[in-house]
Amino acid sequence: MLTLITGGAGYIASVVALSLLENGYNIVIFDNLENGHREIIDALKKIEAKGKVVDFMEGDLREQSDISAAFSKHKIDIVLHFAAHIQVEESTQNPQKYYINNVCGSMNLLGAMLANSVDKIVFSSTAAIYGEPESVPIDENHRLAPINPYGWSKFIVEKILNDYEAAYGLKSVSLRYFNVAGADRHTRIGEWHEPETHLIPNILAAINNQERIFQIYGDNFNTRDGTCLRDYVNVEDLADAHVFAMQYLLDGGTSDCFNIGTDEGYTVKEVLDACEKITQKKIEKIIVKRRAGDSAMLVADSQKARKILNWKPKRSLEDSISSAYKWYLKAVK
Ligand code: UFG
Repeated sequence: MLTLITGGAGYIASVVALSLLENGYNIVIFDNLENGHREIIDALKKIEAKGKVVDFMEGDLREQSDISAAFSKHKIDIVLHFAAHIQVEESTQNPQKYYINNVCGSMNLLGAMLANSVDKIVFSSTAAIYGEPESVPIDENHRLAPINPYGWSKFIVEKILNDYEAAYGLKSVSLRYFNVAGADRHTRIGEWHEPETHLIPNILAAINNQERIFQIYGDNFNTRDGTCLRDYVNVEDLADAHVFAMQYLLDGGTSDCFNIGTDEGYTVKEVLDACEKITQKKIEKIIVKRRAGDSAMLVADSQKARKILNWKPKRSLEDSISSAYKWYLKAVK
């Protein structure tokens, strides 16, 4: 059994890779190291686990020959597809970058899968495909209406996956992640983006650097305190969801999509308070204008994943902040 992980040198994919190794899966990692890090691959290779990193292939999904080479070299059974650009605001400024990488890159991957008769894929989708929801929590039947090119790029790939199932029998699970947070509990792997744009790492950076003032992007949203409301799901819980989704497909499950969230929302101000409490440090903050592409509220209804995949989140927002802080002090500072 061999699993191909695209984008495996990035934050979420590498924590999932670690979990697969611990669960006895052998993996091949494909990453162009544009946003991923070689140090993460080295860390994964060093970890003693039941499964092995069989190979790391440096390659770019935008090059058909790069991804085809991975399938020629290895007999892949299933693909976990993470590789993508992920910044909502950047996607509004440079949609071309997002559509070429996220959509064309995915099509090259799917082309290589079809050519090599690999018919199972778990796709990293996003809550951003719901856009500005009519109400929260959001279940999978909510209308899909992205409000930024990042969300559209993931929406389009979900549509392509549906069409490929109908035409070619490709089986897929799309996991619609809400806001992913935290690090590996043993602090071996954690969040590392350059530049960092995400809420919790930015708060932790400001807490540890008195010269940085934390910016809250808007306090005039229609939420309980005016700041954006999000559902923060722990990255190790998300890794469990991938293991269950893979097993579901390997057991003959039909193509489907699942929300992966905790079903609880926290505002930016509430996350700030929680970070101050956990780190026991105060943070300087200012309100600035809204960031382009931000929805006011995204909170999951994840009952479908709980019922069909047998998944449930086990860790709280506080757990995620604590593990993220340990990781920050060890690796990022
Ligand atoms: N925020 C701030 N200041 C910061 C950083 C973030 O106020 O310095 C706010 C944002 O405006 C937003 C919230 O904190 O309201 C969360 O922002 P993140 O950048 O951490 O996450 P996003 O909600 O923008 O996006 C994340 C992923 C996407 C995914 C989405 C789904 O990056 O890939 O969650 O909910 F689509």
